[in-house]
Amino acid sequence: MTDATRNASSSKDRVLIFDTTLRDGEQCPGATMTFEEKLEVADVLDAMGVDIIEAGFPIASDGDFEAVSAIAKRIKRATVAGLARAISADIARAGEAVRHAAKPRIHTFVSTSPIHLEHQMRKNEDEVLEIITKTVAQARNLVEDVEWSAMDATRTPIDYLCRTVEAAIKAGATTINLPDTVGYAVPDEYRAMFRQIRERVPNADKAIFSVHCHNDLGLAVANSLAGIEGGARQIECTINGIGERAGNAALEEVVMALRVRGDVLPYDTGIDASLLTRASKAVSTACSFPVQYNKAIVGRNAFAHESGIHQDGMLKNQTTYEIMTPESVGVSKTSLVMGKHSGRAAFRSKLKEMGYDLGDNQLEDAFTRFKALADRKKHVYDEDIEALVDENLASAHDRVRLVSLTVIAGTRGPQRATMKLDVDGRFVTEEAEGNGPIDAVFNAIKAIVPHEAVLELYDVHAVTEGTDAQAEVTVRLSHEGSSVTGRGADPDTLVSSAKAYLVALNKLVAKGVRLHAQAAAE
Ligand code: KIV
Ligand code: ZN
Repeated sequence: MTDATRNASSSKDRVLIFDTTLRDGEQCPGATMTFEEKLEVADVLDAMGVDIIEAGFPIASDGDFEAVSAIAKRIKRATVAGLARAISADIARAGEAVRHAAKPRIHTFVSTSPIHLEHQMRKNEDEVLEIITKTVAQARNLVEDVEWSAMDATRTPIDYLCRTVEAAIKAGATTINLPDTVGYAVPDEYRAMFRQIRERVPNADKAIFSVHCHNDLGLAVANSLAGIEGGARQIECTINGIGERAGNAALEEVVMALRVRGDVLPYDTGIDASLLTRASKAVSTACSFPVQYNKAIVGRNAFAHESGIHQDGMLKNQTTYEIMTPESVGVSKTSLVMGKHSGRAAFRSKLKEMGYDLGDNQLEDAFTRFKALADRKKHVYDEDIEALVDENLASAHDRVRLVSLTVIAGTRGPQRATMKLDVDGRFVTEEAEGNGPIDAVFNAIKAIVPHEAVLELYDVHAVTEGTDAQAEVTVRLSHEGSSVTGRGADPDTLVSSAKAYLVALNKLVAKGVRLHAQAAAE
C-alpha cells in the first residue's frame, strides 16, 4: 500500500477512480462528443470526485488535442491524463496537451501479448522491452505522473509480463495498468495475475496497480473487483460502461458494488454517489447514447418494482427488495411537476433539485420550451423536463436548426414533408416526398443540407406513459468511417425524428464534415 491509496479517515483502503469515458468511452461507434460536450462531461466527473480524468488521445486529431488541453486547463481538482502510444511523437503531443493541468498525467501503452507482438507490432519481446524503457523515460521527463499499460496483459505469459512491468517501473512509471483489453479474463485469473505480479516483480511496491476491463463476456465489473482484491488500487472505468465493442467496466457499478458490499469489499472511493444518475444522463445526452432500461444503478428500471409480491414488500419495508436507496445514487422519485401556470422561479428551483445548473440564457431557452410543452401536454413529469433540458444542452452549439415542419401522412401516399431550417442564420425551406413520413422528413433535410452520411440506426421510445407522451428518437449517422448519434424529444414523433437527425448532422459538422447548404434562402 502507498500513501496515495491509504485512507486517512477510514480503515478501508482507498481505490482511485480513473474515468476514461472521454477516451475509451468516446472511442465506441456513435459515441462521439463535441468539444463543448466533452467539457461538460469533464465538469460533471470532477464534481463527482473522480480521481483521474482521461480526457482523450491527443495525437488522434486536432480536436482531441484541443479538448484534452482545454480540460487540462479547466479542471483544478482531478488529475488529467492524455493517452499516448509508445511512440515519441505521441508522448510529446500528450505531454503538450496536459502541460497546463494542475495535476498532469501521461498514460502510455504498448502491447505485450504474443498475439499482438506477432500480428500487430511485428516485434520480438526484447524489442518491446527496449521500447518500454525508452518511452516511459521520455514521458517521465515531461511529467512526474506516468501511467504505463500493458495492452492485452491478460493474454501475456506471466514471466514476460513481470519483465515488462519491472522495466516500466524502473524507467519511471508510477502507475501500472494491466488491462483485460479483449474482455477474455475470468475473475479468479485476473485476481491471481495481480497477486503474482506484485509478489514477483522486485520493484512492484514503487507503483500503484490498476485494473482496466472490457465487457466482451459481461465480466468487466466482476474482473475489476477481483483485480482490486489482488492488490490493484485504481479502477479504470466509464460512465454507463460505454467503450470499445461491449464497453468498459461501468463506473457507477464498481462504485456502488464497493459501497453496498463494503462488508466483503473493504475499499473506499472518493465518489459522491448521489451524482451518479446526473453523470449518467450527462454522458448519455452528450453522446446521444441511450442507457438500457435494465442497466444496473442508472437504468430507468433499476428501482422500479412491477410484480405484486415485490410492490407489497416495498410498501411494508423498502429493504425487502432494494439493496440501496434510489436517493443514494441521485434518483429523484418521478413526480408530477408544474403545469402551464408555473413561473420561472419554480422552474429554476425544480431544475436545481434535478441536478441541473444552467446559465441564464440556457435557463431562458429551457423555460420557453417547458412552457410550449406544458401547453401541449396534460402532465409534465421530471422525465419530460429532463428530455427538454438535455436536448437544449445538446443543441446549444448547432449550426443547423429546425424552424418548422409540416408533414402530410396517411394511407394516401406519397408522404410529403415541408421543412424550414436555420442554416448558419439563414432560413431555407424545402419540400420532399418519401416512402413514409419519416423518410420524407429526412429527405427534406437532405434537400436543404446535401450530405453523404448514411443512416445506420433509427430508434424511438416514449419518455413517459400516455398517448401524449414525448417521443424520444435516436438516430445514428455514419460518414467515412466515423459514426455519430443524435437524440431528440417532442410529443410529435416526426418533429423528434427531425431534431434527432439534426443533432447527429451537427455533430458530423463539428467533426469537420462540410455542409453544402442550399443557396436559396428566404
Ligand atoms: O483496453 C486497453 O488495453 C486500453 C489501453 C489503451 C489502456 O484501452
Ligand atoms: Zn480499453
